[in-house]
Amino acid sequence: MSIATIKGFKDILPHETPLWQWIEKNARDVFRVFGFKEIRTPLLEWTELFTRGIGEETDIVSKEMYTIPDSKGRNQTLRPEATASVVRAYIEHRLYQLNPVQKLFSIGPMFRHERPQKGRFRQFHQINAELFGDPGPRSDAELITMAIRIFERVGLTDVTLNINSLGCSSCRGEFKNRLKGFLSDRAGELCGECQRRSELNPLRVFDCKIDSCKEAMTGAPVMLDNICDECKNHFEAVKRHLDELGITYIVNKLLVRGLDYYSRTTFEIQTDRLGAQSAVAGGGRYDGLISQLDGPPHSGMGFAIGFERLAALLEEEKKPLSDVPDLFIIALGDEAFRKGFIWADTLRKKDISVEMEYEAKGLKAQMKKADKLNAKRVLIAGEDELSKGKLVLRDMVTKAQEEIPITDLIQNLVKILK
Ligand code: HAM
Repeated sequence: MSIATIKGFKDILPHETPLWQWIEKNARDVFRVFGFKEIRTPLLEWTELFTRGIGEETDIVSKEMYTIPDSKGRNQTLRPEATASVVRAYIEHRLYQLNPVQKLFSIGPMFRHERPQKGRFRQFHQINAELFGDPGPRSDAELITMAIRIFERVGLTDVTLNINSLGCSSCRGEFKNRLKGFLSDRAGELCGECQRRSELNPLRVFDCKIDSCKEAMTGAPVMLDNICDECKNHFEAVKRHLDELGITYIVNKLLVRGLDYYSRTTFEIQTDRLGAQSAVAGGGRYDGLISQLDGPPHSGMGFAIGFERLAALLEEEKKPLSDVPDLFIIALGDEAFRKGFIWADTLRKKDISVEMEYEAKGLKAQMKKADKLNAKRVLIAGEDELSKGKLVLRDMVTKAQEEIPITDLIQNLVKILK
């Protein structure tokens, strides 16, 4: 039996990669104008980084990590997200010494052993941004705006920005106890998972998709109504700054996130076009995470866009993107073939994409191939043309043909094709 990909892992095929490259280029352009610099961290980290960073009680850490022991039995994990790794790098390399405010982005694969379904994979990719060292609401607004600008730049405007505040360590502690009280009165109506969460991570019950749990949560106290004055002022200022920048949002008091490190502002960019997997991006502030991982007491904030989900939305819109050859050289006869092979290389050195056959074939077969590759133009070099000293250049869209003298062939082609 032939070997196939592992469940939840997928190939990104040549007809898909032009869209991926285009998305990445647009994201990089936005990062550049916002002053974000690229960081690339390893795919494998000590497991402890994620258990301490993301939280033992989260689904990611408790159920979804790909963990492998090293030869000494110490566990290593394929990164399920980028934030913890970027924070580790900020601390390990003392990036804050140069400037406490660091604006970093990374793009790459993540691994979570989730149940695969539409828009949910076990290896997926994120476009990730982190802003360290500024606790003020302006950085929240700027970071959220940057995420929205990426969506705008790729032409996706039918997404909804949801924002919420999850309070700080002091007001959330009190709130959790209140929520636990509410949940213990309704324990019988909750699913097994939510009964467990009620004790350990009660905010996560808001995220349960089961109808009976959703019903049981009607009338539950919400964090946003119970945040302290400082958190309230921060959230009001974030909204004001977003308004100033013309960013539209809805305040979603039920928005909680699947990672434990968040404090204050959290947000998700959602779509109704991907079924159950509605979040195309998510993020928020995490003011305690850097010190929790033994770094300086600097604040942090970030987001990640799900690459597959963004690509799926754009594919639905049928973005016409593909890499097509600028020129297909049709060579007929040994002499033309020998020359064509050299012309192709000369043009490629000048940044023009050229295709031709490897073996001699008839005119019809070569024309068919050029058509199949969607070549923009074909250059016909037959024995007749060679002896006349003029080749035929055909525009495959307009079907217009012109003669190009062999003497200045490369120069002429570069002029036309560039
Ligand atoms: P997250 O909400 O777990 O946040 O993931 C961010 C995005 O990654 C999701 O909105 C979704 O689009 C995509 N995603 C997550 N899991 C999968 C999956 N199994 N298959 C396909 N796409 C998926 C984080 O990861 C945080 N580290 C974001 C962040 C950065 N917060 C602060 N800084």
